[in-house]
Amino acid sequence: MGKLEELIEAASEAIINSTLTLALTGAGISVESGIPDFRSAGGLWSKFDPAEYATIEAFRSDPEKVWKMLTEMDKVVSAARPNPAHIALGELERMGYLHYIITQNIDNLHQEGGSRNVIEYHGNSSTLSCLWCGKNYRASDKRDTIPPRCDCGKILKPDVVFFGEPIPADALNRSFQLASSAQVLMVIGTSAVVSPANTIPTIAKQNRAKIIEINMERTHLSDTITDIFLQGKAGEIVPALVQAVKRKGGGSPLM
Ligand code: APR
Repeated sequence: MGKLEELIEAASEAIINSTLTLALTGAGISVESGIPDFRSAGGLWSKFDPAEYATIEAFRSDPEKVWKMLTEMDKVVSAARPNPAHIALGELERMGYLHYIITQNIDNLHQEGGSRNVIEYHGNSSTLSCLWCGKNYRASDKRDTIPPRCDCGKILKPDVVFFGEPIPADALNRSFQLASSAQVLMVIGTSAVVSPANTIPTIAKQNRAKIIEINMERTHLSDTITDIFLQGKAGEIVPALVQAVKRKGGGSPLM
């Protein structure tokens, strides 16, 4: 058995023996669905400076300009479908071995991949809101005009969290509460550089959770708090891990 297979076996053991397992996911889990991540070479922030395009101030002062970046994002997100990593996490939840996903992604792919307990830190791009009159719309109903406008005439904002905006309070509170009692935290496809999402692994570790990290490359977590580092594509590693849990853990811990 190779080194990676051994690590996957150890990770599956930890998941099988855990009564509260969480997954913190980032853009890397959706790259194989065709959505570029932010900070890898060629990522979104190499085309659009986040300071100019991804802050709430930038949106308020020049929404047309920000919609240039949002339109590019919307094109790839609306065409994206769940990949084997999203689907495997949905299966792990159905088997009773994964309890919540805390995601930084706005692409709705966890839900479309079958996961039900999904806490969205940065919102979801499938709905839009008017900052002036508060009216809400489905993004799919407003693709005919760019930038999309409210019936009141103002330019609409996607229900995603821009830099400078707060994380939804219920997402923050629920995730901190869960992280403080988790026994296993999977950290999948995130550089873990953006706060406060990147405090979740530290909170879990401080409460003696086992940290299983899945990433194409090492991050600042890998040599500090990660217990098991599984290097590779999420679309390959996550299904292999779920297969190992299924093979050794049987149907569900509830049986
Ligand atoms: N499989 C596994 N990991 C991958 C893959 C893949 N196929 N492709 C890329 N990665 C890894 C990269 O190595 C990197 O560590 O995913 C991580 C993506 O990191 P970022 O691009 O920084 O994305 P993320 O961590 O989600 O960013 C957090 O920053 O800009 C804000 O709001 C934005 O939610 C985002 C937040």
